[in-house]
Amino acid sequence: MKPIEPPAGYSISCDPALLNLDTVHGFIANSYWAKGIPKTIVEKSIRHSIAWGIYFGAEQVGFARVISDKATFAYLCDVFIASEHRGKGLSKALVAAIKAHPDLQGLRRWMLVTVDAHGLYEQFDFKPVQNPERHMEIHQPGLYLEGQPPA
Ligand SMILES: CC(C)(COP(=O)(O)OP(=O)(O)OC[C@H]1O[C@@H](n2cnc3c(N)ncnc32)[C@H](O)[C@@H]1OP(=O)(O)O)[C@@H](O)C(=O)NCCC(=O)NCCS
Repeated sequence: MKPIEPPAGYSISCDPALLNLDTVHGFIANSYWAKGIPKTIVEKSIRHSIAWGIYFGAEQVGFARVISDKATFAYLCDVFIASEHRGKGLSKALVAAIKAHPDLQGLRRWMLVTVDAHGLYEQFDFKPVQNPERHMEIHQPGLYLEGQPPA
């Protein structure tokens, strides 16, 4: 997968030192998938993932992370672009950068979960799960709204 150059003024990096934890937490804690997530959990999740930021100058305007063994499997999650920067191809440039990362080549399976962005990920070879009856999960969507202490 070839990288896609982001629009002028934007840059993409997986340098964890550049990430703005307040920006990332501020978005994810209000997302439909992890509402109420504590900042400590977001920080820990980033520490144990490969995480990308998209920057407009020095300002972080997007994010995504990948959980992976870097050999066989990767899970793409927490993808967002700040609302005022949407519709410019930034998420496509971000997913292209992720798919091009040298540690994420030759994997047997990639996974992700999305409510409505299938059309984005289809452009990067993701397809609906072929045999959903073979997949199992433990999912606690309301976990962070139940006043649970950080793990
Ligand atoms: C989804 C999101 C990341 C897209 O970011 P973006 O930078 O505005 O998207 P892009 O400009 O790169 O374009 C995305 C492409 O995917 C398509 N697409 C499909 N589903 C989409 C969706 N739900 N939202 C946005 N684009 C979508 C667009 O039409 C566009 O297609 P194109 O190639 O024909 O132009 C952004 O809208 C966002 O952060 N949404 C809120 C958080 C979210 O839902 N994250 C995804 C969780 S899986």
